[in-house]
Amino acid sequence: MQYPIRIEKVAQSRVSQQPLTNLVFGKLFTDHLFIADYADGKWGNCHIAPYGPIATSPSLYTMHYGQGIFEGMKAVLNAEGTPMMFRPLDNLHRLNYGARRMALPEVPEEIFMNGLTQLLQLDKAWVPTEAGSALYIRPFLFATDSLIGIKPTEKFRFMIIATPVSKYYDKPVKILVADKYVRAFKGGTGDVKAIGNYGATMLPMIEARQKGYDQVLWMDGAEFKYAHEIGTMNFFVQIGDKFITPNIDGCILEGITRSSVIALLKDGGYSVEERPITIDEIVDAADKGILNDAFGTGTAASLSHIELFGYEGRDLMVKPVAERTISHAIKARLDNIKCGNEADKFNWVIPC
Ligand SMILES: Cc1ncc(COP(=O)(O)O)c(C=O)c1O
Repeated sequence: MQYPIRIEKVAQSRVSQQPLTNLVFGKLFTDHLFIADYADGKWGNCHIAPYGPIATSPSLYTMHYGQGIFEGMKAVLNAEGTPMMFRPLDNLHRLNYGARRMALPEVPEEIFMNGLTQLLQLDKAWVPTEAGSALYIRPFLFATDSLIGIKPTEKFRFMIIATPVSKYYDKPVKILVADKYVRAFKGGTGDVKAIGNYGATMLPMIEARQKGYDQVLWMDGAEFKYAHEIGTMNFFVQIGDKFITPNIDGCILEGITRSSVIALLKDGGYSVEERPITIDEIVDAADKGILNDAFGTGTAASLSHIELFGYEGRDLMVKPVAERTISHAIKARLDNIKCGNEADKFNWVIPC
């Protein structure tokens, strides 16, 4: 093994201090975290330590210039009590794609997979078992130079923390179509999980909520004509019989749930188009009564139905959620594959 992991365990686990039910997303963290440091051109110092505050310099580069990226993935327990990770290598590949864009060092597969596996084995008791719940895992990578000034950095840290979470969105979401703020544009960082992408969405999200919507549907930055994605979800619509999702064009994140849902739709014999979708098509379909489905896909939410779109002062209604039998079935299949209740013919699930 090129990167051995040192393990310092907590003296006493906190897991029994509260029930792992009705959890607020991302507030409670497991006993341990994983750290690897990059300095002098190489990775090392791989260790697992008790979860807790980490000392940082006030001039930590990432805090000033946002040179950081993150990932999000989930693990659940199978019937034998083994944690099952969902497509973790896809998260690693996306992390390293983002690392190249953000001038961060790529994380070796051994560090990523061993760090994950050892952390999950140690904190297995934190994987909640209530229906729809999971252990949400957050790998992240950032510059650690103590440095003010825009110049290439040399020191980096990769960490993994984990938080038990209950089911994400329980009810269908109301979406406001963006007409003022832009999340991503060609040549930018919209296709990587750069930390700054998310900070910039807070104000639009707050404003959308003040207007009675849950999330924003991001549009292209040039014309506000083409749909991109929603918060932390990729976007799908069904117009007539056809499912359509925006193609990977450098502006949207290549979601792992997106690709899983496309595979499951195709496996079910449904037609899926990956192509630009205009807001005019959505308006037209709603007016004709053929906007048969709309949903977001993402690790946190799995598949989350959209009830309506707020656009130019009107609410465009999608077919009632109860009637959307195809996407309900796709969501059920995805969730069943994740927890081992359905045979994993796609080889997506990795036990640890
Ligand atoms: C901007 C954005 N789009 C889409 C997604 C969905 O990606 P995934 O299905 O890999 O979680 C996420 C979440 O990671 C995201 O942050």
